[in-house]
Amino acid sequence: MATMATKSNHLPLGDQRNAPFYGKDILSVKQFSREDLTYIYGVAHEMREMVARIGTFDLLKGKILANLFYEPSTRTSSSFTAAMERLGGSVIPINEVKYSSVSKGESLPDTVRTLECYADVIVLRHPEVGASALAAKYARKPIINAGDGVGEHPTQALLDLFTIVEELGHVEGLNVTMLGDLKYGRTVHSLARLLSLYQVKINFVSPELLKMPPEIIEEVKEKSIQISEHSELEPVLAETDVLYVTRVQKERFENLDEYEQVKSLYVITPETLKQAKKKMIVMHPLPRVGEISPEVDGDPRAAYFRQMEYGLYIRMALLAMVLGKA
Ligand code: NCD
Repeated sequence: MATMATKSNHLPLGDQRNAPFYGKDILSVKQFSREDLTYIYGVAHEMREMVARIGTFDLLKGKILANLFYEPSTRTSSSFTAAMERLGGSVIPINEVKYSSVSKGESLPDTVRTLECYADVIVLRHPEVGASALAAKYARKPIINAGDGVGEHPTQALLDLFTIVEELGHVEGLNVTMLGDLKYGRTVHSLARLLSLYQVKINFVSPELLKMPPEIIEEVKEKSIQISEHSELEPVLAETDVLYVTRVQKERFENLDEYEQVKSLYVITPETLKQAKKKMIVMHPLPRVGEISPEVDGDPRAAYFRQMEYGLYIRMALLAMVLGKA
């Protein structure tokens, strides 16, 4: 976590100022080391146990989260809300920015400076790459990036990697295949970067139009990760330990004819999984819009619903950490 300064001089007394991540922004997976991940996953485990044992507890009693969403969300916004409430805190939800002063033309820095007068931490989803970094520049309180356009989705990548660890027991040596919209999908941008902290093999499978951006390929290659690019799943399916499926991001296309050409190129069915290992997992950040058929849901390898639950524990851990309570 070398890149982010602690915003501790503005945080209230009584918090654990020496705790790692205290007062930090969470903007990109680039800020995490393997040691950080081990620490986060340890805290997430504790959160999971506490939720199983007592459901809700008072670790963040009196703390307030502002959930500022300029783009649609079901899982990310509601899991942050559930995370805050399970820790005894409360939430200011702003998910229809058309009802807020944003619709009057207020700038992001001003909106953020407003919300931090009332809240202790701000979770931000925004259509522009770099929006969270911009918000963090102006905010005195921690900003958590919940998706900045086609940029990054760091908390999703943390929960994705946590899912892999929980389901398969390790990351080292795995063969991970990312399928679908690798150009516009921010979850795969973050996950590819995070996985490059480990010795893994990554296969990128997409149509030409939706290939993983070259700068991310370069970043991953620099870490000596073995990668391969394909337009079909077939050549890599049998060796895959983690099949990470993505939705084609319709909202990012300027030309909808292009979307029509690529929208349903890959569909995972029970037939597809016959070619896959017995011990492997199928993941998806969700929502899915046809790329995994519902008949796959009953297969024990379908991990995408369990993946959502892991997200609650990760977000509980992150909130406790940036607020100095873990
Ligand atoms: C993803 C997103 O918003 O990037 N959703 C999520 O947060 N789970 C993926 C998507 O919208 O396809």
